[in-house]
Parts: sequence; structure tokens; C-alpha cells
Amino acid sequence: MRDILPNQARRWDLVEQKLTRVLQQHAYEAIRLPLLEFTELFARGVGEATDIVEKEMYTLADRDGDSLSLRPEGTASSVRMLQEHGLLYNQTQRVYYAGPMFRYEKPQKGRYRQFYQIGAEAYGFTGPDIDAELIGMAWACWQGLGVESMVNLEINTLGSSEDRQQYRTALVEFLTPKSEQLDDDSRRRLTTNPMRILDSKNPVTQALLNDAPKLPDFVDAQSREHYEGLKQLLVAMQIPFRENPNLVRGLDYYTHTVFEWVTQDLGSQGAVCAGGRYDGLVERLGGRATPGVGFAIGLDRVVLLHEIAVANAEPESEDRSADVYLCVTQPECNGAALVVANALRAALPTLRVRQHMGGGNLKKQLKKADACGAVAAILIDDDSLDQRALTIKHLRDASMGQQTLAFDAGIARLQQL
Ligand code: HAM
Repeated sequence: MRDILPNQARRWDLVEQKLTRVLQQHAYEAIRLPLLEFTELFARGVGEATDIVEKEMYTLADRDGDSLSLRPEGTASSVRMLQEHGLLYNQTQRVYYAGPMFRYEKPQKGRYRQFYQIGAEAYGFTGPDIDAELIGMAWACWQGLGVESMVNLEINTLGSSEDRQQYRTALVEFLTPKSEQLDDDSRRRLTTNPMRILDSKNPVTQALLNDAPKLPDFVDAQSREHYEGLKQLLVAMQIPFRENPNLVRGLDYYTHTVFEWVTQDLGSQGAVCAGGRYDGLVERLGGRATPGVGFAIGLDRVVLLHEIAVANAEPESEDRSADVYLCVTQPECNGAALVVANALRAALPTLRVRQHMGGGNLKKQLKKADACGAVAAILIDDDSLDQRALTIKHLRDASMGQQTLAFDAGIARLQQL
């Protein structure tokens, strides 16, 4: 699990704010999900035979013996929450959530055991237009961050769950006589989760799959129509995409549309956002049949992309943690400084005002002011409060020197910096 230090967290905040802004612009509403759920929810929702449930969950018994798991994803919880509060039946919902997810995976660049997702989900809509809205929303996220040239959209349709069942049977029939040639993982999946074999990175397995039955041939007319409708909408929205018939996704709940945004810039962990339709999940979790569709953006990976994309990014080592730094000319002025600092924050709410603490002469204080990247230091003396005056020392432009101004004039000056 990773620590995110102050110099990195600044970029995280920026990226997170930009992404959530896009979701809000599309009138999706925030929800907050619990970190822990009954293990059963993920076993039923994500699927018993998936890697996530089989070997990646952090599961514990609580004090009365219930099995709980740290959430490995947000979709099952979002369905559970909306269903439990009667917010799915006979209505539509568009929601988003953000926060940490937990999977016991092998950590490497772009893959962590505690990672962060921003997810969006829509309920109660059957047409391909909502699939297109969600994909368009992800596209707007990439544009907002300036990374749209670094990601590619891949789409596929899995058909209905009956279509999938038939395909699964055909795939198993095709691969069983050849199981000797499969790697261990794929051989195991032949009985647990055969469609995941399509995802295999093993070249021998991929060569075997060349002649295997193809999923699109099993997709029924209605599902195909949905998929064609989505493709037309993506063309109309000018969102470039590639059809990938081997895209199957690692979670069991998907039906019809699935999609992934992938990048070449992050090595092997290329998926930065993934999702699709899950029309059977609400019912599988005990509710009335309700269509659902959504995606989750992997924030860790998008932050890495943003770092690469913004070429003129500040070097991470450079501290830019305050805009204005308050220094005291004598230790007795600390109280006055606290009052002035709050007055500055009230007058200029976006300004980050830091007050020097811990004593030391003015020279030492100004050194600290410089080191934290502040553009100006405010020097507080005995008269600062009585006279409502601000003594501003410019730190980035020596020619501007030091000035004492009436409070309001001082605020106006700070505003210009
Ligand atoms: P997922 O493909 O498991 O889907 O995860 C979505 C995204 O989360 C991935 O594309 C990736 O960017 C990021 N991610 C996953 N695991 C890790 C990890 N260990 N470290 C860093 N990033 C990771 C879901 O979770 C579905 N709930 C998405 C969804 C929402 N489908 C419908 N609605």
C-alpha cells in the first residue's frame, strides 16, 4: 500500500477535482459507500470464480463472526446501497463515487493493493444512449486533463447472459481437447471461468484462440442492435474507438456493452478506465430487474498519465505549499499574527496563508517563507493590529521591495500577485 506525500497529493487533488467536476457537469450525483461490506455481496455480485473474489480480497471476521471484506470495487456496493434505500425501483439514477479500493494483487508501477477509483453508474436506462453518455463523460475527463491523445477506447459486446452461456459452452468444447497446450492458469479457468482465457497474455494460448469460436457470432439480434446503436452514437460524438472481440473483463456481472480505455504510456498496466453494462446485477443481488451501466477510472494510473502529459509540470521536489507567509518581528506579536492571518483568509479565500511558528529571528523566518514557495511575506509588528496596516515584502521580485499599506490596499496588492 502506498503513501501519497504532500508534493504528490497536490497533483492528486488537481486531477480528482477536474474529474469530479466533469461528472458533476453531467448532473451525476455523489454517493459515499462504506469501505467494508459483507463478503457475500462481492461473492454474489462480482462472481465467485473471478480472480478478485477467489484470491484478491482482504477478508476478515468481525466480532460476531460475520465475514466482511474491504471493497475491491464500487459497483456491487452502489447497487446494494441504492436497492436497500428504495432508490432503484420505478426511477432512474445517475451517481458517482470516489475513494480507495483494495485488492491483494502483485504490486508494481500502476498496480497497488490500495488504489483509488472514481466511478460513475447509471440505473434504469436500457438504450445505448446512456452507454454513449458514460463513454463521452470519460472522454471529457481525458480532454479536461489534456491526456486524450494518450488513451484509446476499446469496445465489445458480450450479448445477453444466455448468449454468453452458449458461447461459454462452445469455447469449452473447443479448448478441452487442446487443454494440454494451455498454460496452468488457463487450464484452471477452463473449468472455473473459461471466457477469461481470451484475456491470456500467453502467446501459445493466443495462437490456439485464433481458430476458437468467436463471441460476436453468438450475440443475439437485440444485443447486436444495441451495439450498432452505440457505435453510431460514438461516431456522431467523434470519439475514436476500436472493436476488440477479445475484451471480456474480469468481473462476472457484465452483459452487452463492455469497454476499456487503454494507454501505451504506463507499461503493462494499461487500463485507465473500464466499465460496461450489467443489466442482471440488481436482480442477482435480490432486487427487481433494473438495467445498470457504469465505469471506474483508475486514479493512480491517471495521475501517472497526467504527470507524463504535463511536460512543464513543476518538479516534484519544489515546495509550493503556501502563497503568503506571515513573519513576526518580535515574539510578542504572535497573537496579532493569528488575527491578521484569519483576516487575510477571510478577505482572499483562495489564498493559502501560512503563519510562521516556532520562533527565530526575521532572517530565519524569511528563509522559511522563501522555501515554501510563498510570493510574499507579511511582517507583523506591534502596530499591525492597531493601525490595520499590512507590511508586504515581495519574495519573487526584488525590485518591488517592501511596502506598508492600509489593510484594504494591501489586500488589493496581494490579489494582484
Ligand atoms: P476494474 O476493471 O476492475 O473495474 O477496475 C477499473 C479500473 O480501476 C481499472 O481500469 C484500473 O484503471 C483501476 N485498477 C484496478 N485495479 C487496480 C490496481 N490494483 N491498482 C491500480 N489501479 C487499479 C471495476 O472495478 C468495475 N467496478 C468498473 C465498473 C463500474 N463497471 C461498471 N461500473
